[in-house]
Amino acid sequence: MVTFPKTETLMQRGRDFLGSETAILCGAMSWVSERNLVSAISNAGGFGVIACGAMTPDLLDREIAETARLTDKPFGVNLITMHPDLFDLIAVCEKHGVGHVVLAGGIPPKGSVEAIKGGSNPAKVICFAPTLALAKKLLRSGADALVIEGMEAGGHIGPVSTSVLAQEMLPELADDHLVFVAGGIGRGNAIAGYLEMGACGVQLGTRFACATESIAHPDFKKAFFRASARDAVASVQVDQRLPVIPVRALKNKGAELFTAKQREVAGILDREEIAMEEAQLQIEHYWAGALRRAVIDGDVENGSLMAGQSVGMLKEEEPVADIIAKLMAQSEEALARR
Ligand SMILES: Cc1cc2nc3c(=O)[nH]c(=O)nc-3n(C[C@H](O)[C@H](O)[C@H](O)COP(=O)(O)O)c2cc1C
Repeated sequence: MVTFPKTETLMQRGRDFLGSETAILCGAMSWVSERNLVSAISNAGGFGVIACGAMTPDLLDREIAETARLTDKPFGVNLITMHPDLFDLIAVCEKHGVGHVVLAGGIPPKGSVEAIKGGSNPAKVICFAPTLALAKKLLRSGADALVIEGMEAGGHIGPVSTSVLAQEMLPELADDHLVFVAGGIGRGNAIAGYLEMGACGVQLGTRFACATESIAHPDFKKAFFRASARDAVASVQVDQRLPVIPVRALKNKGAELFTAKQREVAGILDREEIAMEEAQLQIEHYWAGALRRAVIDGDVENGSLMAGQSVGMLKEEEPVADIIAKLMAQSEEALARR
């Protein structure tokens, strides 16, 4: 068996926390991170996370059960904080004894962290920390680990780059807390760098989206292999009153359609036909639908091709185990050269 002693040592806290061989998380990707990819990641020594997205509690129930049939290794579930049935989804995770719940999409609503940690089957809570102040608040509120994710990432993004977030947050937090770094990681050399800065592990999405085990449509994968870093662009907000979290995706007609959708929702908001929360939810549902069109149906023109800037480093379909082995070997080589 190949081992990566220097990398594994730096990942030790993350590995202990996740219960996986490596502290490489595959971040949840709506429609992509389902039973096949999640189980493959965990079976290969990474940590897979189911993307609940807009799933109903019944659908999540089935997805967790099916994933558990495919792996006996730990995996997590990513829940979106604005999901109207968040507490029912938490109960589903509890029923299955899911060990780790990732809360994404905003500050966890009151009682959610307690519900995850306090039930009959307590789970660990992982939260996204967009700023240092919020990171400290999340830790005080009971988060067991944090993900700091830069704007190079695919999907919903914040305004700050991974390298700056890492420099700002790791020296303050990493000695006493578990911090995973995400966004723009395509090679193991970058993993080595963040581990040396104090991260306990990393999270990647784009790098795994086109793995052999990913159910993404072949045309979705082809679009990724053809793209370069500069094709993965952030969406723009068209209306001041309608705060829309930017999304990084490959340029296509679908990205333009999103601008039109924002204008349409802003119009409805103008006419006071819906409340702000509902308007934002409509935007999120739009993304989920557009992503499904691209990932599942292969409509790479009108669908959303959410991808991070590391997409330029993807050239071919590879099994998850090979990707993880390569990342670990590259990290090890970089650390050995120090
Ligand atoms: C196609 C796609 C869909 C995503 N969907 C979600 C999601 O549903 N929930 C979430 O928290 N993050 C989502 N993400 C973000 C990933 O979980 C991960 O944090 C991110 O991809 C890491 O950055 P990278 O793309 O540079 O590797 C998505 C990313 C991609 C590429």
